Amino acid sequence: MMNEQDILRTELRWGAVVAAAVGLIVAVIVVSSASMLLHPPSNAEIIDPATLHIGGEFVEANLGAVENPDGSVTARLIATQFAFVPRCLPVPANTPVTLRITSSDVVHGFIIAGTNANTMVVPGYVSQVKTTFRTPGDYLMPCHEYCGLGHSEMWSIVRVLPKESWKADAEGRVACEIPG
Ligand code: CUA
Repeated sequence: MMNEQDILRTELRWGAVVAAAVGLIVAVIVVSSASMLLHPPSNAEIIDPATLHIGGEFVEANLGAVENPDGSVTARLIATQFAFVPRCLPVPANTPVTLRITSSDVVHGFIIAGTNANTMVVPGYVSQVKTTFRTPGDYLMPCHEYCGLGHSEMWSIVRVLPKESWKADAEGRVACEIPG
């Protein structure tokens, strides 16, 4: 038979186990958000999806990556059934890159493997993610939000180039072609 003291002790022991588990979970969240920049996207910026092609930040000529005066890079893309525009996005390595993406039709999403870039793209809003690519190479950027029959064919390539080979032409664009 357990007496009242034993029961109290058992309860306190299990209480401590639960408190330790909660503490560990909170610590993982704090450490990953502080050191790995993992956090829910918090950009709330509205845009009219019906006029993207007519004017403003997301007109076709303004898509792709451009260098800012401070040396960082801003990349603008449109998510649409069933492609990201542009399909190949050249960016320099070891440089802060701000990805700005909006949808012209339905809800899409994107993830770039090995980075913190992972968010939904909701029509009417601009999704913004800041990241830095450490290693040059081609990174697959698939749509990860079911958006219709062509969902599985919806992807772009992020081509991370050594900083010295990321050079814009006269139009301010960097060439990027997908093999095949
Ligand atoms: Cu776009 Cu799935």
